[in-house]
Amino acid sequence: TYEIEKVSTQELMDLFNVHCLGVVRTVQATLTYLRNSTNPRIINLSSRLGSLSKMSSGEFAKGKFSYSYRIAKAAQNMLTLCLDQELGDIPISITAIHPGKLQTSSGAYDANMRPEDAATNIYSWLLNSKRDISGKFFEPLVTEMNW
Ligand SMILES: NC(=O)c1ccc[n+]([C@@H]2O[C@H](COP(=O)([O-])OP(=O)(O)OC[C@H]3O[C@@H](n4cnc5c(N)ncnc54)[C@H](OP(=O)(O)O)[C@@H]3O)[C@@H](O)[C@H]2O)c1
Repeated sequence: TYEIEKVSTQELMDLFNVHCLGVVRTVQATLTYLRNSTNPRIINLSSRLGSLSKMSSGEFAKGKFSYSYRIAKAAQNMLTLCLDQELGDIPISITAIHPGKLQTSSGAYDANMRPEDAATNIYSWLLNSKRDISGKFFEPLVTEMNW
């Protein structure tokens, strides 16, 4: 829900668990392999809704987006930066992306992209990207985003 009086702390914890702690667990489980890789990349599937810049600009004022999702995605973005700070020198490249407004079961009211098209965009963008995308936030093939 987008109303503070109706927000459940259980829902907040559930979404934090999936979107942020799920990434923590995945990184912990794969770090050994990433360290041994010749071109190690972590692409964190974040969201425009985790962007403090967009939020503070008023971009989502009409969206009625939930507290839980926005807070979980903002935490996931901070995790991206924490990982980049610690692992960027190894070097493991760590990047957050907003994949587009996807027409999925959890898509927003303004969804306008098929998930398969977003996947193609991400793959194409990634193939042509270099290490300098580490510690940054992108909408693939569209723009670099402010945190
Ligand atoms: N849709 C958008 O516009 C949009 C925009 C920005 C970012 N994203 C991000 O893109 C990612 C995918 O979103 P989506 O729109 O594609 O959602 P989706 O169609 O609802 O798919 C979500 C996927 O996550 C799995 N899942 C859900 N809860 C899980 C859990 N507790 N443990 C393991 N897997 C779980 C689901 O598995 P089952 O199929 O087995 O249930 C499903 O495969 C999310 O991180 C979302 O935040 C989406």
